[in-house]
Amino acid sequence: MTAPGKAQAQEQGPLDEEQLIDSRPRNAMNRSGHRQASVFNSLAGCHLHHPIPLVLKLLMLTLFAGILVAILAQVSNIPSRQEYEQDQSQQKQVYQELAQMKDRMSNLCRPCSWDWTFFQGKCYFFSKSQRNWHDSVTACKEAGAQLVIVESAEEQSFLQHISKSKGRSWIGLSDLNKEGAWHWVDGSPLSSSLKKYWNPGEPNSSGEEDCAEYKGDGWNDSICSHKKFWICKRSASSCPRE
Ligand code: BGC
Ligand code: CA
Repeated sequence: MTAPGKAQAQEQGPLDEEQLIDSRPRNAMNRSGHRQASVFNSLAGCHLHHPIPLVLKLLMLTLFAGILVAILAQVSNIPSRQEYEQDQSQQKQVYQELAQMKDRMSNLCRPCSWDWTFFQGKCYFFSKSQRNWHDSVTACKEAGAQLVIVESAEEQSFLQHISKSKGRSWIGLSDLNKEGAWHWVDGSPLSSSLKKYWNPGEPNSSGEEDCAEYKGDGWNDSICSHKKFWICKRSASSCPRE
């Protein structure tokens, strides 16, 4: 009885020694991997007569796997329509909340701090405690303000009214540098248009009085080391508009 390999060989006609010895199926892999080469060659679309080296095959495999992983990663990163719509609605909600917060902030915005009083674009601080004139100057400076400098009739009237009910209060006016030469804390001289605000008979410099105060219905020169209330003034902050 003829062996199956030999019978097949006889049907196909004369074969060389190697073909006769190797009777395994065509897609089986031999020791050197020569049969597998035909699979790779087909995959790559080339029909080379020379077998592809193993290293090159491994490289191709790695590259193919890498491309596959990259494609999968890309595909999994693309948000679905539902996720996209969800994101959009969340974004809309955040914008609405921000707009509401902005509204509330602008309503909260005040031209002056809580314990300061707004009048004609300025903020005024009426002290609750009493200090001498120099310490009052310092207190206002520390608050980013000045011991009050009176600039207009309206301002004078506003401050006079409050001080009358509150008590004697220092203002930023003195003749410390030169007797009888009254200057504001910013160095400017007392203008003649404002001299009418001295109380009748003042300034009388009765006993070294070099600092000015609100007393009753007008100004009085008084002793700088005496403790009195004080008034600070600073610019109001502008609130943002819509
Ligand atoms: C004050 C003086 C002021 C006088 C006016 C006194 O109490 O200390 O500064 O000139 O009153 O009458
Ligand atoms: Ca006086």
